[in-house]
Amino acid sequence: MAISRSNISLQPARLAEWTQRLLPSPTALLESTVASYLREGRTVYRLGLGQPDFPTPERAKDSAIRAIHDDFTGYTDTAGILPLRQAISHALKRDMGLDYGPDEIVVSVGGKHALFNAICALCRPGDEVLIPVPYWVSFPEQVKFAGAKPVFVPTEASGGYKVSPELLAKRTNESTRLLILNQPNNPSGAVYNKQELAELAAFCRERDIWVISDEVYAAYAFSSEGFTSIASFPGMRERTVVINAVSKTYSMTGWRIGYSAAPAEVSEAMLLLQSHTTSNPSSIAQKAALTAIEGPQDDLETIRNRYIERRDILVEGVRRIRGLDCLKPEGAFYVWVDASFWIGRTLNGRTVGSMDELADILLKDAGVAVMPGTGFGSTRHLRLSYAVALPEMQGGLAAMEALLGLKG
Ligand SMILES: Cc1ncc(COP(=O)(O)O)c(C=O)c1O
Repeated sequence: MAISRSNISLQPARLAEWTQRLLPSPTALLESTVASYLREGRTVYRLGLGQPDFPTPERAKDSAIRAIHDDFTGYTDTAGILPLRQAISHALKRDMGLDYGPDEIVVSVGGKHALFNAICALCRPGDEVLIPVPYWVSFPEQVKFAGAKPVFVPTEASGGYKVSPELLAKRTNESTRLLILNQPNNPSGAVYNKQELAELAAFCRERDIWVISDEVYAAYAFSSEGFTSIASFPGMRERTVVINAVSKTYSMTGWRIGYSAAPAEVSEAMLLLQSHTTSNPSSIAQKAALTAIEGPQDDLETIRNRYIERRDILVEGVRRIRGLDCLKPEGAFYVWVDASFWIGRTLNGRTVGSMDELADILLKDAGVAVMPGTGFGSTRHLRLSYAVALPEMQGGLAAMEALLGLKG
C-alpha cells in the first residue's frame, strides 16, 4: 500500500510526534498509481520513475546465486563484509581519487539508508541544513526526522539550477550545520565543474559547514570533464560524508546496497545507529554488489552513451511541445521541465491549478506518468525520466504532444 495523507489518518494522540511533520514519498505514490493502471490493462508511458531499465549485470546475479548455494546467508559485519568495503575503498580511489580506508566505509540498505544514518549522525536539534532547490524528495524529510531544520536555497534555470557561495550565504547563519549537495542532481541533472566546487568547498571551510555529498548518479555525468567529488578538495575530506550506491550505477535498485565514506568518527556514529536498527544489509546482496563494483566497468560506458542518446531525444521532444521548456541536463537520467505556462490554462475542460493537476491530466488523459515538481520543491516544474526504453519514451512524447500541442 502506498502511504498518502488521504488513505491513512495519522492521529497525533496515538502516534509519535514526527508523524505530523513528515510528508509521504511522492515517488512511491506515483509508483503505486502506475501499477494499478497497468493491472487494469491501460497503456502507461512511464516517464516518472527513477529506476534504470537496464538489467543487473549477469556476474552480479551469479554471485548472489553462488552466495545462496554457499550458505552465505548469516549475519555479516554490521558495516558490511570487509572485501566489499575494500572494493568500495578501491573504487573511490579509482573513480574519484578519494582516499578512504575500509574502516571509514559503512555499507547500508541502499543510498537512502546511508543518507539517513549520515543525517542522524550529524544533525543536532535546532541545526539548520542547507538544501539546494530542486532537491531529492527525501532530504527535507530525513532532516526533519532528525530534529533539524531544512533551509531551502533556491536556484534558477539561468544559473543551471546550481548553488553558489553567494546563494548559500543568503541562507547561512550561526545555526547552519550542513549542506546537502547532490550531483548529478535529481531532478535537475545539474553537475558542478571543478571551479564551482572549489568555490563551494572554500565557503564550507570558512563557515565550518559539513557536507553530505550524494553521488548516487556519479557514474552518469556526461561532460568530458566527468565527475568530481567535493570531498576531493583540500580540507574537505574531514568535513564531508560521501554517499553512493549500486542502485543507479549498476541497475540494482532492488538489491538495496548503498554506502558512505566519512571520517572515522562519523562512520562510527552511523554504524552505532545501524547496529541498533537494521544490522548489516543482506549478505547475498553484498556479494552481488562486490562483484559489480570490482569487476570490469566497461558496461557503464555503454549505458552512459545510451542515456546521452535518450537525453538528447527527450530534450528535443520536450522543447517542441507547447508550454514546455527545459535545460539540457548534464547527468543522472531526468529532464527538469518548466511547465509553468500551463498554470491557469484549460486542458480537456480542466483548469490546471498546479503541477500535481497537470501531472494528473497527463496520466489520465494521455497515459503519460511524470512526477510533479512539488515534491522536489518546485510549483513550476515536472520531472521526466529517460531511464526508460526509447519506444516507450517516444510513445510518451507523442502522447504529450497530442494533448498539449506543438509550439506555434
Ligand atoms: C539523489 C538520490 N539519492 C539517493 C537515492 C537513494 O538511492 P537508493 O535506491 O540506493 O536508496 C536516490 C534514489 O532515487 C536519489 O535519487
